[in-house]
Order: sequence, then C-alpha cells, then structure tokens
Amino acid sequence: GLIGASAFAGGKDNLKYYPAKKNAALSSKLPPGTKLTPQEWATGYNNFYEFTTRKEYVRHPFFIGKFKTDPWRMRIDGLCKKPWQGDAHDLIGTMGKRGKIEERVQRFRCVEGWSMVVPWTGFSLADLLKLVEPKAEAKFVRFTTAFNPKVMPGAAAMKQYTWPYQEGLRMDEAIHPLTLVATGIYGKPLPNQNGAPIRLVVPWKYGYKSIKSIVRIELVAKQPKTFWEIAAPKEYPFESNVDPAVRHPRWTQDTERVLGFNNRIPTLKYNGFGKQVAALYK
Ligand code: MTE
Repeated sequence: GLIGASAFAGGKDNLKYYPAKKNAALSSKLPPGTKLTPQEWATGYNNFYEFTTRKEYVRHPFFIGKFKTDPWRMRIDGLCKKPWQGDAHDLIGTMGKRGKIEERVQRFRCVEGWSMVVPWTGFSLADLLKLVEPKAEAKFVRFTTAFNPKVMPGAAAMKQYTWPYQEGLRMDEAIHPLTLVATGIYGKPLPNQNGAPIRLVVPWKYGYKSIKSIVRIELVAKQPKTFWEIAAPKEYPFESNVDPAVRHPRWTQDTERVLGFNNRIPTLKYNGFGKQVAALYK
C-alpha cells in the first residue's frame, strides 16, 4: 500500500498545509489587473448535479448539509503494482509531509460559457500515481465520485443520468504536471460544494472534466465512459480541451462570462495553457 499513510492522523492535522506556497510556473499567465474571482462566487455558484442543478443552491444545507466528507474512504487501484485504500485525509497528510502541496492560481472555464480565476491548493496527480506504480498496460485513468442518493437529492431525483459521476484522462494527460488533485481553494480546505475532500482540476479542459469528491481512481487499459459523454456524446466528448474554434452544438465557445464581474472576455485555446500542453495533441 501507500508508504506511511497510516502514520499520519489526517483530518484537522492537515490544516497546517494551508495556505500553501504559490507555484507561479503552474499558474495562469494573467493580464495585469486581472482580479481573482470573489470567493463567495467560486464557493456559491457551483455545478454539483448530485445535489441540485441550481448552482446558487448547491451550498445550502438543504441540499449539501447531509454530505459528510471526513472521514473519507477512497481507493486507488486497477492496473498498478501497489493499489491503496484508506482515508483521503491520510493521503493529503502524506502529500503534505512530502512537501507536495502547493497553490496554483488559474483560470477555470466551464463548458457553459462562464469562467473564474481561483487559487487552488493541492498536488500533482503524477505524484500520487507514482506511489501506486502504474503497470505498462495502464493507458487511461478513471475517476469516480461518491454516490449516495440518501444524501444527494439531485442524484436521487435525476434518474435519467448514469450515476455515479465518472471522468477519465489519457495516461499522458493524467501525469502532466498541470493535472491537479485539489484539496483546497482560497488557502483553505475545499468546502463540500467545491468537491471536498479531494477533486480533480484539469485546467486546460472544460470544467466537467474536473470531477469532485472522488472515491476511486482506477488505472485502466481502455478509454473509460464518462458521465457527460454517456448523457450527450456530441456535446461533451471525452477529450474536451478548451477551444474557442470548436463550437458546442448549441452555443459558441469564443467568449466567456467572468463570474462575479459579468464582463465577457475572449476564450483562449487550452484555456491559456497551450505552451505546456499543445504537444500532447500533435
Ligand atoms: N463533479 C461531480 N461529481 N458532479 C458535477 O456535477 N460538475 C462539473 C465539475 N465536477 C460536477 C463535477 C462541472 S460542469 C464544473 S464547471 C465544475 O465541477 C464546477 O466546479 P466548481 O463548483 O468548484 O466551480
């Protein structure tokens, strides 16, 4: 299993890792004067369909109040030499102890056409995957969100969707240093509405790839089916890189509404991370 994980208490002991030191190299290059998204917008206007499709309501106790994120059982398994299962808070503690937790201030672009600039805290997925030693046959990574209709009114009501929420990445995307396992936002642990205790952030892809409240990370040989791809494959394909030149079937993607300020700005290819990721798509 994961080396030393059980030696760390996790939970509240991890507060010492916040706020984390900023990694400028893996942050967005922002035009001078760009403002951070007001915290109340980033934590109050959320997509988390398990609870409700009404973004302003997700955080309210009526929807998310019964969702408990500490303790948090999760597993990392599939095609790897050292599968692990345990508490996500121990995993976060392990990464903190190893000095891997950092802050990245990045643009985040939802497929719906709104965007924000937020300080994420977390560690590279690559550092986590190293611990479980993927086998050569592992070509993709599949991620799964918790599923419990008793505490998820949205999932309980919307039976047309294929729950649990699942996402996937190619292995080369998964081990890219920009691919973040986020554990915090605005210098504090994630609030539940943002995907506590552990979520993905893939900053050059549309927001739906950034799956929340992960219970399983699985190394697989074949491209996994994803939640939104199953629902509408032409609208939400597996790759889903931010690209103003590729129209969504029902709307243009060439600009985005800046959350909290309401102005529109041009959308950038790969969400501004072209220098780092364009080579993946040659
Ligand atoms: N993960 C789960 N499990 N369920 C969801 O509905 N929505 C996605 C993504 N991850 C979603 C999810 C979408 S569409 C977006 S834009 C982001 O979460 C929103 O993240 P935020 O609320 O932290 O801004």
